[in-house]
Amino acid sequence: MAENPVQIAEAAPEKRLIDYRPPAFLVDTVDLIFDLDPEATSVRATMSIRRNPAHGDATAPLVLDGEDLTLNAVMLDGAALDAEAYGLTAHGLTIPDLPDEFTLDTDVTIAPARNTELSGLYVSGGDFFTQCEAEGFRRITFFPDRPDVMARFSATLIAEQKRYPVLLSNGNPVDRGTRDDGRHWVKWQDPHPKPSYLFALVAGDLLSVHDEFITASGRKVALGIYVRRGDEDKVAHAMASLKRSMRWDEEVFGLEYDLDIFNIAAVGDFNMGAMENKGLNIFNTALVLARPDTATDADYLRIDRVIAHEYFHNWTGDRVTCRDWFQLSLKEGLTVFRDQEYGADTTDASLSRIEEVKRLRGFQFREDAGPLAHPVRPPAYRKIDNFYTATVYEKGAEVVRMIRTIIGREAFRRGMDIYIARNDNSAATIEDFVAAMHEASGYDFARFMRWYKQAGTPSVHFEGHYDSGAKRYMLTLRQETKATPGQAQKEPFVIPVAMGLIGPNGDEMTTTLAGETAAREGTRVVLLDAAEQQFIFEDVAAEPVLSLFRNFSAPIRLSGYSRAQLAALAAHDTDGFNRWEAGHEYATQMLLEAISAHQRGEAFSPDRGLLDAMASALAQAEAAPALTAEILTLPGKAVLADRMAVVDPLSIHVVREAARTAIGAHLHGRFAMLYRDLDDSSTFGIDPASIGRRALRNTALAYLMAADKKTAMPLALAQLRAGRTMTEALAALAMLADTATPERDAGLAEFHAKWQGEALVIDKWFAIQARSAAPDTIARVESLASHPDFDLKNPNRYRSLVGGFGSNQLWVHDASGAGYAFMTRMIVDVDKVNRSIAARMIEVFADWKRYDAARQAKLRAALDRILATEGLSDNTREMVTRSRAG
Ligand code: TRP
Ligand code: ZN
Repeated sequence: MAENPVQIAEAAPEKRLIDYRPPAFLVDTVDLIFDLDPEATSVRATMSIRRNPAHGDATAPLVLDGEDLTLNAVMLDGAALDAEAYGLTAHGLTIPDLPDEFTLDTDVTIAPARNTELSGLYVSGGDFFTQCEAEGFRRITFFPDRPDVMARFSATLIAEQKRYPVLLSNGNPVDRGTRDDGRHWVKWQDPHPKPSYLFALVAGDLLSVHDEFITASGRKVALGIYVRRGDEDKVAHAMASLKRSMRWDEEVFGLEYDLDIFNIAAVGDFNMGAMENKGLNIFNTALVLARPDTATDADYLRIDRVIAHEYFHNWTGDRVTCRDWFQLSLKEGLTVFRDQEYGADTTDASLSRIEEVKRLRGFQFREDAGPLAHPVRPPAYRKIDNFYTATVYEKGAEVVRMIRTIIGREAFRRGMDIYIARNDNSAATIEDFVAAMHEASGYDFARFMRWYKQAGTPSVHFEGHYDSGAKRYMLTLRQETKATPGQAQKEPFVIPVAMGLIGPNGDEMTTTLAGETAAREGTRVVLLDAAEQQFIFEDVAAEPVLSLFRNFSAPIRLSGYSRAQLAALAAHDTDGFNRWEAGHEYATQMLLEAISAHQRGEAFSPDRGLLDAMASALAQAEAAPALTAEILTLPGKAVLADRMAVVDPLSIHVVREAARTAIGAHLHGRFAMLYRDLDDSSTFGIDPASIGRRALRNTALAYLMAADKKTAMPLALAQLRAGRTMTEALAALAMLADTATPERDAGLAEFHAKWQGEALVIDKWFAIQARSAAPDTIARVESLASHPDFDLKNPNRYRSLVGGFGSNQLWVHDASGAGYAFMTRMIVDVDKVNRSIAARMIEVFADWKRYDAARQAKLRAALDRILATEGLSDNTREMVTRSRAG
């Protein structure tokens, strides 16, 4: 490799978990007065502050974080401080020589209309919104902006009444009034102490939809969802989800809502999905608004989950918060686990699990295998915004799930009660959570904690040996985890293996595991906690097929199955997840072999077993349409790439398409019939049955297209034009977009014309083209970047085009390097307006080591080019630096 000419300058200092120190000062109350104006908003803060004895140094100065603030005045106990009495830098305000208790008043000016970072107070569509997690509050006013400083907040919002009739903040409105100058004001008081990252305000011309919820103990909660004019017909789904979530948390975790008001506001410019601000959740419009003709079934399901997720944060995040940002998974892993459980209880449990595991494998396994790998609790970071990752969220949820699998449901629920009771209204650590689980179960988590400390996905290999004379089955499990950045050696993980034994006739066997007192049927959990371990089963009547890691009981990669065993499991396993998993693994192995054959120049020949499996899956189409659609869907390109030593995007594409064509041709009659039979214009429902029918019908159409474009193209175009639901329209549009045909051009033009006023639908229009397999994709994506509807400043639009193209394995990795050039330019451009969005896009380049030498050189060069950009943000710099170090 050539010498690297780029100088690595790290602007943001590294923060380390081991350096944690309690804050020098605590803030008991903070009263804020906002005089709202897009260009110059005045923020006055009155804080009652006292020294924190836990800090240790009683002479420490007060350090307040602050960023992009214009300081007008500081007063200590009512007396103005002059400039010599404090130190002011680009990062904050330091005041030495302070008494043990005092009141501090500050007065700053900020410019929300110029805040393109969308962190702090900003303007979207002319209205005001905030985003304070993780470190946005310091962009609103000077404050110890760290989650272990919890204060009681009040906020008085003053704004022009006509333009901003709605004024919202956390807690309850306690006072309001109007002034003669056309301005009005509302004062909000939040009775619960909270860290600054949970502060929120919303001010604007919004419409609201209201409902109410009666809690288990009979208190009435007023619910409101605030949206822009014209969107009020798209909130019914979110409202229903909210009420379902509130009930579920009462029933399953005994957790009741704790305020009289719960509001949600939707905003079109937002860096992430949604935010759990106490009593005032703020949502990306994409995760609230849904109408059958504008949102897909997948959108409906995602909205339901995210509404639940943010609501569940009220206890796991808000009432019990994080001591520091290293503990991020304490709230995020646990809350994702809770939203997964909600999904399992309120929709199809196997299907939800399948979706979760696909997500984990697609994003987290990849992260864990590359230069960005980090433990669920990272030991160090430069910009915390870069650690809102699949590892912290999704793997964190798996770790919580493993705790429950190991100690059992009842002990887990007791552990949750202890965790909440013990840490209520305080800032906790992962140790606090695990200690509660220990207390509830007696289980010693000392070695289990490795899941929080070690990065990397363990590989588990199994071997079975059956002794027919002794009726004994011996299972050997071995685990190994590859080195990750900064962690060369790995200790063995404690891995819960939920498993069963399937007999020759497909029945669940009754067996005795050495050490158990009685024979058992069905799923049992064994623990693999060494590098290698044996498990001996007695009374095993015949040679079994093992069903391992049922319902995906641990986030590991499993190997050891033969094709025949996978086929048997796919047909007979009693565990719904593992039935799908076995078929998926079978298809993955078959495709990987076909890719190798293709690379050797051999022609594709379809695998009989796969065709048979697809045909028998179709036999259940009536009974389980959604699961059938899932089984009929071949493993995604990312899954295949993940399993290859050197990723070959073109071969992956060619072989996967050839397999789809073969399946489509083999089962053409069945798919054609299904496509006709599932055509009902019955009213739209988001019940599992209706969703399943639409999914299966779209799958059938996709196979008809794969088999014969000429005859299927008119069907796709007709389905698009009928536009009954977005699920149907978008699936058809995606199929058309994969071709370079006049039908594609007509379909895209009509769709755009029809949905001009609906930003979220136009986002889909961009994304579909960015993800296309059509040969002219790169050129089209380049021209879309100068389309009048493209807006670099809007994260949804940017992600649709640039993020969408970034996940287009075929074209972003095109051998010409044109895909990399496009991404590089778009990242450098957006870094100037929104660094956290730019930093997330670096993911595309992080896997450079997985490609051939020519692509590696181009990917490295692209990273170097980004790093050499003048004025590059700390966020993007950290991601590029970690990616290059690989
Ligand atoms: N806490 C949010 C969640 O529910 C995540 C989030 C929303 C966020 N907006 C953000 C994180 C901005 C960082 C920056 O998961
Ligand atoms: Zn969250």
